[in-house]
Amino acid sequence: MAFLNNNFLALPQTYLFSEIARRVSVFKEQNPEADIIRMGIGDVTLPIVPAVIEALHSAVDQMGTKDGFHGYGPEQGYDFLRETIQKHDFTDNGIEIALDEIFVSDGAKSDTGNIGDILSKNNIIAVTDPVYPVYVDTNVMAGRGGELNDGKWSNIVYLPCTKENGFVPALPTEKVDIIYLCYPNNPTGTTLTRSQLKVWVDYAKKNDALILFDAAYEAFIKDDDVPHSIYEIEGAKDCAIEFRSFSKTAGFTGLRCGYTVIPKTVKAVADNGEKVSLNPLWNRRQCTKFNGTAYIIQKAAQAVYSDKGQSQVKEMIGYYMNNTKVMKSGLVEAGFEVFGGDNAPYIWIKTPQGITSWEFFDKLLNELYIVGTPGVGFGPSGEGYFRLTAFGDKDRTLEAIERIKKWKH
Ligand code: MLT
Repeated sequence: MAFLNNNFLALPQTYLFSEIARRVSVFKEQNPEADIIRMGIGDVTLPIVPAVIEALHSAVDQMGTKDGFHGYGPEQGYDFLRETIQKHDFTDNGIEIALDEIFVSDGAKSDTGNIGDILSKNNIIAVTDPVYPVYVDTNVMAGRGGELNDGKWSNIVYLPCTKENGFVPALPTEKVDIIYLCYPNNPTGTTLTRSQLKVWVDYAKKNDALILFDAAYEAFIKDDDVPHSIYEIEGAKDCAIEFRSFSKTAGFTGLRCGYTVIPKTVKAVADNGEKVSLNPLWNRRQCTKFNGTAYIIQKAAQAVYSDKGQSQVKEMIGYYMNNTKVMKSGLVEAGFEVFGGDNAPYIWIKTPQGITSWEFFDKLLNELYIVGTPGVGFGPSGEGYFRLTAFGDKDRTLEAIERIKKWKH
């Protein structure tokens, strides 16, 4: 009989957002009349912008012709998209990234989850706490978790981010090998300035650590001193891998496209002590396990960078960021302590005194028919907090905030 990967048995039975979906569907069954407003999972709601739809249509039509048909594409992504990414996201911003350092994929969730394939099981992982659950769960699956006690995995180093430290994590006090940073942050919606991120790059270089930098929300940055890429920081090309996504930037949650940058200068140590570049190893991994993102999706992603595409996705982001404004001011008016939302589509609320994250979730669902995400679902330091997303419809967002305001008063 086959033996299983026992690490899966150690994991909590459901993924955070699946558990929320399950609870909401039970509630809906019992309360079919309830007018539920969903502000839980960070899924976009606006339609794909016209420039991208046009590109998709045209790519689909090409696929139906002998000359325009595309079979297996390059595992690393088509050059037309990699060149566009290289120019627009890096060269134009004064960052030098080679074409073969960019790997197009089906999204940042897959890449942040899969990157562990090329890294030893023995690495000590550090995560900011609260954190996007994918980083923790995938390390547990790979055997880097240890045991779960009071919401913490014994082999993972947690770096608390709370209102007390302004949601800026302190450097680890023990030896860590890999550090996950997500900025603008999911779930808190907070950011690190250039000088705050430099502290991490300097630390990683000095301590031979690898930073896995998730920049999925960079398109929401408004403030000039918040970096869009970790490679804006000197030295980052020696110690950081960056993940990007079209999901939130251009509404691709249902299309699936992202990319990962692995500079050739980023290295890890082999068993024989040799420092080995991670770039060819990821390439090897992708060639074996991934057959490339669909041609039509890569054409769609390329259209995001056209003049029309850029102005349309910027408008879309403005729409969501207007929601954050409405949410923030309404929640403050209702008497909540509110964080994030200035450079990110997430609002992080302190739950009222004495109410846990899950109690607040139940209250909001049962009394106001609003779905959010309990902060503790993102890690122990998320207890006593609650996340709302700004990806909803403008009127429904307003309606949710009005319900909360009335309820609080
Ligand atoms: C979230 O709600 O945290 C995100 O939407 C999940 C994701 O991007 O996978």
